[in-house]
Amino acid sequence: MVSVKVIALLAAVCGLLDATAIPPHHEVHEKREVLHPRWTKEKRVEPRKLLPMRIGLAQNNLDKGYEHLMDVSDPSSSNFGKHWTADDVINAFRPSDETEREVRNWLIDGGIPSSRISHSENKGWFAFYATVEEAEKLLYTTYHEYKDSVTGGVMPSSDEYHLPKNIRRHIDYITPGIKLLAPVESWQKKRDSKIPQARKDIEKRILHEVLQTSPNGHYNNSDLSTCDVAITPACIAALYKIPPVSHRLPHPNNSLGIFESELQFYTQYDLDSFFTNYTSGKIPNGTHPVAANIDGGMQASDDLNYAGTECNLDLQLAYPIVYPQTLTDYEVDDYIVQSDQEDTYTFGFNTFLDALDGSYCTFAAYNETGNDPNLDQAYPDPRIGGWAGKLMCGTFKPTNVISLSYGGQESDLPISYQKRQCLEYMKLGLQGVSFLFASGDSGVSNYPGDIDGPTGCLGPNLDVFNPTWPGTCPFVTSVGATKVYPGKTVYDPESAVYDPAGHPYSVNFSSGGGFSNVYPIPKYQASAVSTFFEKHNPPYKSYSALAGDTSNITKKADIDALVGSSGGVYNRIGRGIPDIAAVGDNIAVYSGGRVRLSGGTSASAPIVSAVFNRINEERLNAGKSPIGFLNPSLYANPGMLNDITNGTNPGCGTVGFSAVKGWDPVTGLGTPNFPKMLEYYMKLP
Ligand SMILES: *[C@@H]1O[C@H](CO)[C@@H](O)[C@H](O)[C@H]1NC(C)=O
Ligand SMILES: *[C@@H]1O[C@H](CO)[C@@H](O)[C@H](O)[C@H]1NC(C)=O
Ligand SMILES: *[C@@H]1O[C@H](CO)[C@@H](O)[C@H](O)[C@H]1NC(C)=O
Ligand SMILES: *[C@@H]1O[C@H](CO)[C@@H](O)[C@H](O)[C@H]1NC(C)=O
Ligand SMILES: *[C@@H]1O[C@H](CO)[C@@H](O)[C@H](O)[C@H]1NC(C)=O
Ligand SMILES: *[C@@H]1O[C@H](CO)[C@@H](O)[C@H](O)[C@H]1NC(C)=O
Ligand SMILES: *[C@@H]1O[C@H](CO)[C@@H](O)[C@H](O)[C@H]1NC(C)=O
Ligand SMILES: *[C@@H]1O[C@H](CO)[C@@H](O)[C@H](O)[C@H]1NC(C)=O
Repeated sequence: MVSVKVIALLAAVCGLLDATAIPPHHEVHEKREVLHPRWTKEKRVEPRKLLPMRIGLAQNNLDKGYEHLMDVSDPSSSNFGKHWTADDVINAFRPSDETEREVRNWLIDGGIPSSRISHSENKGWFAFYATVEEAEKLLYTTYHEYKDSVTGGVMPSSDEYHLPKNIRRHIDYITPGIKLLAPVESWQKKRDSKIPQARKDIEKRILHEVLQTSPNGHYNNSDLSTCDVAITPACIAALYKIPPVSHRLPHPNNSLGIFESELQFYTQYDLDSFFTNYTSGKIPNGTHPVAANIDGGMQASDDLNYAGTECNLDLQLAYPIVYPQTLTDYEVDDYIVQSDQEDTYTFGFNTFLDALDGSYCTFAAYNETGNDPNLDQAYPDPRIGGWAGKLMCGTFKPTNVISLSYGGQESDLPISYQKRQCLEYMKLGLQGVSFLFASGDSGVSNYPGDIDGPTGCLGPNLDVFNPTWPGTCPFVTSVGATKVYPGKTVYDPESAVYDPAGHPYSVNFSSGGGFSNVYPIPKYQASAVSTFFEKHNPPYKSYSALAGDTSNITKKADIDALVGSSGGVYNRIGRGIPDIAAVGDNIAVYSGGRVRLSGGTSASAPIVSAVFNRINEERLNAGKSPIGFLNPSLYANPGMLNDITNGTNPGCGTVGFSAVKGWDPVTGLGTPNFPKMLEYYMKLP
């Protein structure tokens, strides 16, 4: 008994010594602020136990990403179209030799023999096994067992650890460290209470999406004179001069990717009805997308009551343009997670990118590593019906073009979170992938009802314009919407969409557009934006500020600081959106067993994506590469688009910006002119 006491006392004294004995040239590297209540800290981990250690090394050259991407996507570059392999990307951004050397030396000096240290395949981290004793000595820390009350699992973790000052800049994170993979309480609570509600929620969503059912159950696809009433595939083909597909066999490497989440499942009956009446049977019944189910995602529902209008809309817009080419339906997150995505405004994009690029799972930038435990879903998801598998990392190859009709307010998410994700779009752009995001359905404002209250606008007076993310990321293409107004035909110029009765896709539906508060104007767009300001200066006060990397833009104070005392309502130095546009109102779609009219920039994104898929098809058949990141070539040759010069995008109590000659923050550079685009892109190497 006595000896036990002595040991306990010794341990306590040692603990004290450990804490005070941190050498002056060491600093805290990571420290846990709060312990999530699902975890309990228990006893010290046994000193002889082996820990699988990982040292996440700081990536290098991320600031050169823009130039690298321009090098392969600027049409005037001799490397246009020469996309990188995944390994090229890893090598370009791998930690510097200095980082690798210094960290390795520090480990060896700290008692970890070189022979035990291995270097990960993506060069991002060192891995080795160390006893708890060794790791504690190395990191001036103590490891305790933490028990998870949800799963009963136990994992080793520390409250804080220390590194030599001169080593800190080379290291992003160390595991086991302070990270415990647990979802945040508010999420967990909301989700659990929502499971029985999920089905009801779907019904609500459907009611929400019923717009208008055709009086006679059909819109006539052979009659172009009614395109001002309902947009059919024939109207779209006529608007953008898209010829029938000439090739017989689809290229094996050119499926068109469509991202879906939020319980958006297609219904085969609706697809078949659409194929029958709107493609004259050219697309046979039973045609459906290639399934790409990510972390428990599911494709289709047989029950028409649960038809996902977004998913049906996206597929029905893309199929007539690309068929016999296939569509790939990326369904992201399990059923439970999908039913809650609107609570976090993350839309599952991080989980999606993990599945497309395994190195993203552990990629660190802006102090974010991997999925954010506060924002992104952790897998396995222990709830009943949750995805019981591991988080998918690099499971699916990205298609050349991916259409994403989802997005939220730039101000919904911390800057670090969105900037890290934006870098990943750059990395995939280098590999030849085009991302096209809907620009938003609320003009210069945003979907009302979250942090900033009922207006969807920002700032002290709730009148500051609020652009839609991720379209504001400079490495993706943002797609706005136009409309064929009553009395107009497909041969008249289109106008920017404004549909005050645009319910349900939005109240006062108008084309999302404006200027980022996070990203500066990229070079490829600089001249277009400055021409807009020069020739068509908007009649509103502006400010010129960008949110800093450490700002938490979801805090009202940060947004107020951006605007300052200027009284301005839009940012004069931010990236402008959208880049391009397509028709997005009164789209005839079969969903839930009926023809309906639907729309939104949600419709515009898959149309433009399908056009680029067709152009890539021709390029691939000619032995060329896919285009990859689109914006540099779009801004270099705007003449291949139909410039839209009429209409505005109202919001925040204003009429919004105006569509004018040249680029504008309403319809971007304009809508596709397929023959001109094809001619241009076929001339490029
Ligand atoms: C559809 O329009 C075409 C061309 O205007 C017309 O010949 C045909 O009768 C119409 N079909 C129906 C079912 O209205
Ligand atoms: C398709 O891609 C695979 C591997 O990515 C390649 O081996 C194959 O040659 C490609 N097929 C064609 C027809 O280009
Ligand atoms: C196709 O259109 C006709 C009217 O021309 C309509 O009677 C029929 O119900 C439609 N088919 C489907 C599957 O909706
Ligand atoms: C295809 O499916 C639709 C909807 O179920 C149906 O109306 C149509 O008759 C079918 N066509 C064929 C050729 O089976
Ligand atoms: C990252 O964290 C370090 C220390 O924890 C801090 O000094 C730095 O400002 C942070 N950087 C960003 C971009 O948040
Ligand atoms: C829609 O626009 C009308 C007219 O500009 C305006 O009165 C109304 O407040 C707007 N509604 C919303 C929800 O913004
Ligand atoms: C950002 O601020 C909001 C509101 O103050 C807070 O709820 C959230 O946790 C903060 N996020 C981060 C990453 O600091
Ligand atoms: C211009 O757009 C408005 C809607 O903003 C529309 O009512 C009008 O018909 C359009 N004019 C022309 C000439 O297209």
